Amino acid sequence: MFEILEPKPADAILKLIAEHQNDARAEKVDLGVGVYRDAAGNTPILRSVKKAEHWLVGSQESKAYLGSRGDIVFCDAVERLLFADAAEGSSRISTVQTPGGSGALRVAAEVILRANPNATMWVSDPTWNNHVPLLGEAGVNLRTYPYYDSDTNSLRFDAMLESLQASSEGDLILLHGCCHNPTGMDLSVEQWQQVADLVVERKLIPFIDIAYQGFAEGVDEDAYGVRLMYGRVPEMIVTQSCSKNFGLYRDRVGALSFVAADEATAKTVDSQALFVVRTMYSLPPDHGGAVVSRILNDADLRAEWLDEVSEMRGRLKDMRTLLANELRKSAPDHDFSHIERTTGMFCYLGVSPEQVERLKKDFGVYLVGSSRINVCGITAENVSYLAKSIASVL
Ligand code: LMR
Repeated sequence: MFEILEPKPADAILKLIAEHQNDARAEKVDLGVGVYRDAAGNTPILRSVKKAEHWLVGSQESKAYLGSRGDIVFCDAVERLLFADAAEGSSRISTVQTPGGSGALRVAAEVILRANPNATMWVSDPTWNNHVPLLGEAGVNLRTYPYYDSDTNSLRFDAMLESLQASSEGDLILLHGCCHNPTGMDLSVEQWQQVADLVVERKLIPFIDIAYQGFAEGVDEDAYGVRLMYGRVPEMIVTQSCSKNFGLYRDRVGALSFVAADEATAKTVDSQALFVVRTMYSLPPDHGGAVVSRILNDADLRAEWLDEVSEMRGRLKDMRTLLANELRKSAPDHDFSHIERTTGMFCYLGVSPEQVERLKKDFGVYLVGSSRINVCGITAENVSYLAKSIASVL
């Protein structure tokens, strides 16, 4: 039966990992996949994570199944991280632990299709490379709303609101909680409020994907959109990833939260999510979730983790400034100031796909074809080489 299958191209982001690894040039620079790197170019395991893992090895007494929800203590902890005090005793929110944020997106898609197969989900143009394949392959109807203007490197906010006038009651709007991937261009507080007004007025369902909480302004500040919407709408969906802010990429730790209008509906939607999980992958991996749960529930580890997140956030900001300054020297005729105006791990460099190819081929500088760069691939050592390479292809 397999002979009828057509080969599939490798994922545009993930294939950069191998391409960069196989490049023998010492001066190569990896601005590709979204993993954090420190000043030495490493992706270390967080100190708080190591300590929690040691604790886990010493104290865990069983690896017996937990159930399709995963670890209830983890679910409570990450729910609080998102919703803060509103999560306390709320009968409207239900959360399941998932294999990464992608697992959460897929389970969410299945539940949406059961609730309203005709709903349209509006996604930003552009959005994370895998949003459209992941949600579209699951069968969700997708439409895009304008979001980013690559000519002016600014938000197309008016066009976004205007295009959402074509949405229908019950449609979903996918918003990035913070650190928009790939543009790094986030909604301001006032813009979140305007989007919330529109969502309420048109009876849309906010679907917030938050994969970089803590990398823009702070763990609480970055949850602004989630908390605002929670206070304003009867129903919402939030997908969350612990890959980046806990550095647990390959351990696959994420969560999916549903907010329903009342307790009875919340219980029903929760039962549907658990059914979807059971019929898809039965139950989530435990290790990373147990680590997160320990960190968030232990005062010392939590404080240490918050320090580490702040360290990572600081480095992301510093590397933006460093590259923008270096480009002012290497390419004085070009405006790269948006690199400093955007937040989180990514922004568009603002070069063409051909220039991206030349950066790769001639200079060993790896970035996604859209010109998305991961700013933590920048170091004090490589920034001058990087800026000169960029200037050479302009
Ligand atoms: C990214 O956008 O680079 C990360 O979220 C990794 C991925 O899975 O694409």
